[in-house]
Amino acid sequence: MISQNTIDTVFETARVEEVIGDFVNLKRAGSNFKGLSPFSDERSPSFMVSPAKGIWKDFSTGKGGNSVKFLMEHSQFTYPEAIRYLAKKYNIEIEETEQTDAEKAITDVRESMYLVSEFAAKYFNDVLLNSEEGKAIGLSYFKERGFTNETIKKFSLGYSPETWDALTKEALGKGYKLEFLESTGLTIPREDRPFDRFKGRVMFPIQSMSGRILGFGGRILTNDKKAAKYLNSPESDIYHKSKVLYGIFQAKQSIAKQNNCYLVEGYTDVIQFHQSGIENVVASSGTALTPDQIRLINRLTRNITVLFDGDAAGLRAAIRGIDLILEEGMNVRVCAFPDGEDPDSFARKNSYEDLVAYLEQNSKDFIQFKASILMGEAKNDPIKKADLIRDMVTSISKIPDRIQREVYVQECARIMDISEQVLVSTLAQLTQKEIAEAGKKQKQEQKAFEVHRNNYSPDDPRYYDDPTYPGDTQQPSEKTDILYGLERKIIEILLLYGSVTENFEDVFLKADEEGNVKEVTEKRQYRVYEKVYLSLQEDEVELSNQLFQSIFNDIIDFYNQNETFSLDKYLMHLQPEFAQEVTNILMEDERLTIHNWEGQNIFPKHKNATIEQNVSDTIFSMRWYLISKIIHELKNTLLNDPQEDNSEILSMVVDYSKLLNNFSKKLGRVIVPYHS
Ligand code: CTP
Ligand code: MN
Repeated sequence: MISQNTIDTVFETARVEEVIGDFVNLKRAGSNFKGLSPFSDERSPSFMVSPAKGIWKDFSTGKGGNSVKFLMEHSQFTYPEAIRYLAKKYNIEIEETEQTDAEKAITDVRESMYLVSEFAAKYFNDVLLNSEEGKAIGLSYFKERGFTNETIKKFSLGYSPETWDALTKEALGKGYKLEFLESTGLTIPREDRPFDRFKGRVMFPIQSMSGRILGFGGRILTNDKKAAKYLNSPESDIYHKSKVLYGIFQAKQSIAKQNNCYLVEGYTDVIQFHQSGIENVVASSGTALTPDQIRLINRLTRNITVLFDGDAAGLRAAIRGIDLILEEGMNVRVCAFPDGEDPDSFARKNSYEDLVAYLEQNSKDFIQFKASILMGEAKNDPIKKADLIRDMVTSISKIPDRIQREVYVQECARIMDISEQVLVSTLAQLTQKEIAEAGKKQKQEQKAFEVHRNNYSPDDPRYYDDPTYPGDTQQPSEKTDILYGLERKIIEILLLYGSVTENFEDVFLKADEEGNVKEVTEKRQYRVYEKVYLSLQEDEVELSNQLFQSIFNDIIDFYNQNETFSLDKYLMHLQPEFAQEVTNILMEDERLTIHNWEGQNIFPKHKNATIEQNVSDTIFSMRWYLISKIIHELKNTLLNDPQEDNSEILSMVVDYSKLLNNFSKKLGRVIVPYHS
């Protein structure tokens, strides 16, 4: 278990924009940062990070929270994993408290698989650097390839000994279970003697975006024509080939910074580029590029440059799969290397300056590139040319941006020497279907939007004052939404002004000298959270929304335990299960700036009311609501369940109604009567 002390240090040190900046390309937007949501494949940014509040909010999916919550959502970390990751990132030493047997037992399967993979990577690296065999065979091979010690360390390269069970034996001896050695594919099961998959190979660990070891690639060193040159870990619970890019962990920062990602074929290309000084490079590792892999890059940049070998096979391979990238709305450039060279060999032969210059001079926009290549092939063959036009248009049709499509149509017409009209009409046929699909998607999004809007509408004064607001879409659930809005408002008040001291009007009964009981109001100082807490206590009211009630208790506890409440501190320790709702409430302003709804006057905010008014209003509204509900229920009883003597119920209705009138006056507005 990680000590509370360590957890506190981690929270105090971690900066939300830095933590998220490792995964999402963030741009400054006023006092906040903005980026593309890493949780959906949106094209306009609705992901907001507030450094001041230490929180983030993804308006496309509704997720939100602090740094830890981001790592839990984004990298599927558990809470302790996220803390460990942050401790590592910020060089904070982790203090451990003893783990109980029960805690050990719940460490789940995936975690065990990660641990054994991490162990294997360390073992292979250790063998490479420190054993005679490793140095003589593995290390000398890497040196021959020109890899420096620094590179070997950066990519945790290793060597798996030429013994049939070296790793398996070592791992079992260290207490790792055979079950997980097998499920990660490190060990190949066989009844009598399970054996090492990667025996006698140099090892390339494959890491996730956050640096966890997911699997391995192993290159054979002998010239055995029958054995595969490269062997990879099999698919497993932690290793999904289609969702992983080799080198993404080492490249992510540079990709975001350079705002471009080079895509190469394999391990050695990635490593050689790094060694040359170009770090924004990843490899798809043998498989054709998948949408998941593209999205991984899309989180960091919208620009991708595909590098490929100069031969015809390399060229074909590059062209394939690129439509997929276009479809994700990314800008694709391509760069071919001279015949017989791949990125690895070219980078090795040339200086950094020459490499950069080559990439700059030879990278071409994909559409232009494809058109010119295919034009060369089609030349004067009209049938081939017709195919080519369709092929080009298919690529163009994948581009989501209409203006960009148009630019490409013009460009293509010029390169292929045909009229734009032909291209446009071919494009129109192709896009019809897609437009229909896009329309469907947009409608769904709008629907999601409407629900959102209604959720927030209790913030609008018309919600209380105008019985027709917010319109017919909302009628069926209006009742619950008023309460929802009020309860939400209470949480908002606690978060924003809980520790502020204000003067509140207290109303109580007092007997004068003659014994007459009078209603007296008196100003008294309270801290806002005390006032809210005491008022709800007095009314014996609990929040009806379970989540709100839990958050309410949590905040009140926090106030009670901490002399000085600071929102920062509360947010640091924000429980993951509350994170979404709390950030929803706190990031409301940011939502307005993203969609410019304020400009459209959809959520007029009235911020000029004082805190005291705001708090009192909310408390009174809450009372008013609850009393009107009681009256409503009493009336229902009268109607549905008539009794001989109604007088008691009737007088209750009268009393409550008086009270209600009082509140209405206090609130200074005529309130819509409660109706079911
Ligand atoms: N690759 C692979 N599986 C193979 C062959 C290649 O995954 N069977 C990938 C590797 O990631 C490798 C890249 O493609 O880094 C380049 O292939 P290749 O040049 O054949 O590998 P090298 O290790 O560079 O071999 P050589 O020294 O013969 O060039
Ligand atoms: Mn090679």
